[in-house]
Amino acid sequence: MTKINPIYILGIESSCDDTSAAVLCNGKVLSNVVANQEIHTKYGGVVPELASRAHQQNIVPVIQQAIQQANIDKKDLHAIAFTRGPGLMGSLLVGTSFAKSLSLALNIPLIAVNHMQGHVLAHFIDDETQQKPPFPFLCLTISGGHTQIVKITNHFTMEVIGETTDDAVGEAYDKTAKILGLPYPGGPLVDKYAQLGNPKAFKFTKPKVDGLNFSFSGLKTAILYFIQKNVKENPNFIEENLYDICASVQYTIVNILFDKLKKAVKDTGITHVAIAGGVSANSEIRKTLKATEAKYGWTTYIPKFQYTTDNAAMIAIVGHLKFLENDFSETTTVATARLKVQEG
Ligand code: KG4
Ligand code: ZN
Repeated sequence: MTKINPIYILGIESSCDDTSAAVLCNGKVLSNVVANQEIHTKYGGVVPELASRAHQQNIVPVIQQAIQQANIDKKDLHAIAFTRGPGLMGSLLVGTSFAKSLSLALNIPLIAVNHMQGHVLAHFIDDETQQKPPFPFLCLTISGGHTQIVKITNHFTMEVIGETTDDAVGEAYDKTAKILGLPYPGGPLVDKYAQLGNPKAFKFTKPKVDGLNFSFSGLKTAILYFIQKNVKENPNFIEENLYDICASVQYTIVNILFDKLKKAVKDTGITHVAIAGGVSANSEIRKTLKATEAKYGWTTYIPKFQYTTDNAAMIAIVGHLKFLENDFSETTTVATARLKVQEG
């Protein structure tokens, strides 16, 4: 355990299409700057080549802004935490290379972080308005690339007890949006319109998947065929029913997620339940999780909005926790596009 106090950590996140840098002091967020990449909107999804170019453009100003907003000098930093994976290789390389160079220039340690551990451990950011989950707890990690139920026994012991066998839930949201002619990323818009519609207006079949695993590709196809069939009969079908379609899709997705989460609680006996990842910003998922407290006696942990979608504060908190354990990385560490949640 280190005796340094206070500890300043710089976090760098560049795994997909957000360039982000954050400074934490003893686990508290001093700054968390996120540059979203507008460029992908017109393509209806992330274009990897364009994402790495945009990271290259954004990384220096974003880090400078994070240090400035934190009101510190870069010489005050004790370590640099960066996302090693999983993610898009070209995107990861930008953050990884920059982190290595800066750690050499400042002569401070480098800490490689698993992006998925970042989503989960965002719950340990020091914030007096937020309760930290006790161990063990379950975390439903839902993003554009992942859908997992993770059992967390301590900060760095994580076990995936259920996951998607095909698409991630975020992909189901984004694909639905695309079918409906909404811009990327569609999740937030589907969520917004769903709140104005009738969740029982249309019925979509829930997939049958064994155990705690999920599947979303069948639902995606079912939505596509449903829309195509109805638009053939009535070209104005989408405009006339947009809110009801969004509400019905969201109702189905939330049901799929909570059926498995309830089973996970039953199987493990663990009633401390958290959500994490971009899709955990979803209003209905947050509401449904909160309701389990009164309904089933769970204790729930819902992250602040700014720590749900990709951000560097979640990378920096993992950096902070690893710093306390003197768990540093070599400058020869390489970015890894496919990294499992249990791999540090
Ligand atoms: O964690 P994240 O920023 O990136 C990945 O690591 O994948 O998650 C992005 C995903 C996108 O699919 C986006 O549509 C979805 O999170 N998302 C939402 C909402 N906000 C973001 N999905 C549903 N409802 C939302 N409010
Ligand atoms: Zn993510």
